[in-house]
Amino acid sequence: MSVRDQYLEALGIDLWMPRARRTLPLEATGAQQEAEAPDPDETAVPIETAVRPPAPAAVVAATPGMAPLDEAAWQALRAQVSVCTRCELSKTRTQTVFGVGNPRAEIMLIGEAPGADEDRQGEPFVGRAGQLLNSMLRAIGHPRETVFIANVLKCRPPGNREPRPAEVACCLPYLQRQLDMIQPRLLVALGRVAAQNLLATDAPLARLRGQLHRFGARATPLIVTYHPAYLLRSPNEKRKSWVDLKFIRAELARARAGA
Ligand code: URA
Repeated sequence: MSVRDQYLEALGIDLWMPRARRTLPLEATGAQQEAEAPDPDETAVPIETAVRPPAPAAVVAATPGMAPLDEAAWQALRAQVSVCTRCELSKTRTQTVFGVGNPRAEIMLIGEAPGADEDRQGEPFVGRAGQLLNSMLRAIGHPRETVFIANVLKCRPPGNREPRPAEVACCLPYLQRQLDMIQPRLLVALGRVAAQNLLATDAPLARLRGQLHRFGARATPLIVTYHPAYLLRSPNEKRKSWVDLKFIRAELARARAGA
């Protein structure tokens, strides 16, 4: 099974065979032509080429041209975040959620805020949405442990309400600091709320997807895609997320080549 098929299956999308590979009764001549006509979605990019993932992990440790992580500064930032009381969310959280993964990652993914599971476990994207995110990452050859995953907010908003502007303003400097230290080649904003807060816009997700944005002092390339929790709720959008994943993979390759 191709990586794309594995991804679509993980998303709960029915798999289909390319028409040319289907066995249909050949006497139906009109239908035969149609049956053998290549499916545009299958042929636009040869699947085996398009979805074969690059070798994972190794590229991360050996990312050329990147300064080594200042381990002491990283741990100091983690400690600072863990006792943060800059906003009211410090009163209702169980614990802060600093982020998880490789602090020398090439890709940094940014979600909205911790939910109940994340608040309990102290790690981002550990619930059902997290499992889907893991499948998405595996599908493009960048498994969870090779990337860095964080949120716009480090604390859970009560009842999972949307982050308030004042909370974002308090918390964003932590994310910017993480970004300065990690220096990823590519940022991925997961969902409308993360994208709008990072890009300081109220444009809808549909307008933000499919283009390359820039974020922060280093003008790091940023791609917007669906939040995995949204994909769980909205099966119709699942196929489009594969388009975004291919965009992410292609942009990373471009960023590497330009390094
Ligand atoms: N949703 C998010 O945006 N972040 C998490 O960490 C979990 C769910």
